[in-house]
Amino acid sequence: MVSNEKEYAGPSLVIVRSYTRKLGAKGDECQMIKESDRVVVRGLRDVAAAETRISYVDFNGFLYYLGYNIDDLVGRVTYAEVAYLLVHKRLPTQRELDNFRSELVSDMKLPDPIVDSIKRTPKHCHPMHILRTEVSRLAEYDPEGNDFSEAANLRRAARLIAQVPVIVATIHRSRLNKTVPEPKSEFGFSENYLYMFKGAVPDESETNVLHRYMTLHADHGFNASTFAARVTASTNSDMYSAVTSAIGTLKGPLHGGASEKVMEMLDDINLEEEVEEYIHGLLDDQKKIMGFGHRVYRAQDPRTKHLRGMVEDLSHRDRTLDLYNKCIKIEEIVYGRRKIYPNVDFYAAVAMDALGVPKEFFTPFFASSRISGWVAHVIEQYEDAVLLRPASKYVGEFNRPFVSIENR
Ligand code: CMC
Repeated sequence: MVSNEKEYAGPSLVIVRSYTRKLGAKGDECQMIKESDRVVVRGLRDVAAAETRISYVDFNGFLYYLGYNIDDLVGRVTYAEVAYLLVHKRLPTQRELDNFRSELVSDMKLPDPIVDSIKRTPKHCHPMHILRTEVSRLAEYDPEGNDFSEAANLRRAARLIAQVPVIVATIHRSRLNKTVPEPKSEFGFSENYLYMFKGAVPDESETNVLHRYMTLHADHGFNASTFAARVTASTNSDMYSAVTSAIGTLKGPLHGGASEKVMEMLDDINLEEEVEEYIHGLLDDQKKIMGFGHRVYRAQDPRTKHLRGMVEDLSHRDRTLDLYNKCIKIEEIVYGRRKIYPNVDFYAAVAMDALGVPKEFFTPFFASSRISGWVAHVIEQYEDAVLLRPASKYVGEFNRPFVSIENR
């Protein structure tokens, strides 16, 4: 039952609405409030937009995937296991994992027109632009077309988890005028990703770093890109559209784009001895230090210690040791002055660099990991079946006298 009366009170800007409405199957009653009484929660800080079982970001510095503390997962699971956990909401048995890994590896290929399209993109174009476009284009070649059943969406989710890294590898390799090697069935998923990206078989320590990196980046509550994906999915739009929204959102430097900016900053500081002057200078100018601060955590980001540890493991490389030493100094100065901690993007930048990934590919690697969280959330949003559509508080004018164009 819907009844709705509107009364515009003119220039006082007050709109009074009496509004009674039965809301969907859950039957909640909703009382509309006066426009003037609406409260805007700036940046949606602390607003819970929906329920989720997928991950929990505890502001005290803990992160859980489906109830598992990430500290208990990192280094003990492969990324494919984490992707399975997020999408199927439980850890796989060995047999299920073997099947899932084989499914992913056999999906690590792209339709020819996508490969051709990537090869035609201008070399100066940021890989995130290309990734966003090509993920959108994948919809045109989806073998299951308009089948949006649960089973088809689970298969689609696996294909996207497999294909996003292949798009990233193809962008990189085509810039070097090289082809992407075929995935090897005897390799794990992350191992194949590094192999296809670099064109060389990675060693065990590199593969382990990528498993840990991808595990730590796989999901993170209602972060901005996941929320964007869920908003798109909430209109019953398809999974490719939702992931395209997410990629565009992740790209921003306040979100996944931060790690590239971290590396720009580290490269900008020539010597470790220059760190102090450089960072104090930025803080004196009220500038933000990229890779620091977080909307939710009020304690250390639980992912940082793992990423810092990974960088320590790789610090036998001269460049990595040099970057690591700069990072430790930056951490001390920023904490000393602003009492804020590094976030996931800070040491991730150095870990990616140590793996030989160019900085413009840092965010694409983030996307290649977060894709498992995005598709899991898209599926959960379909199950919730509610349109995500907030209100706004109108602060503009009413009843402005219209002036025809010739008199303006
Ligand atoms: N450097 C210096 N000061 C900072 C920083 C920073 N990176 N981050 C926050 N602050 C200060 C900020 O100036 C503010 O100070 P004051 O209260 O004196 O005005 C206070 O800390 C609260 O900051 P905020 O901007 O209200 O925090 P927010 O929740 O709106 O923003 C953030 C969170 C992540 C956008 C912000 O910390 C930031 O811009 N960080 C740099 C970019 C970055 O590293 N992004 C990656 C985020 S985590 C991973 C991801 O999502 O990809």
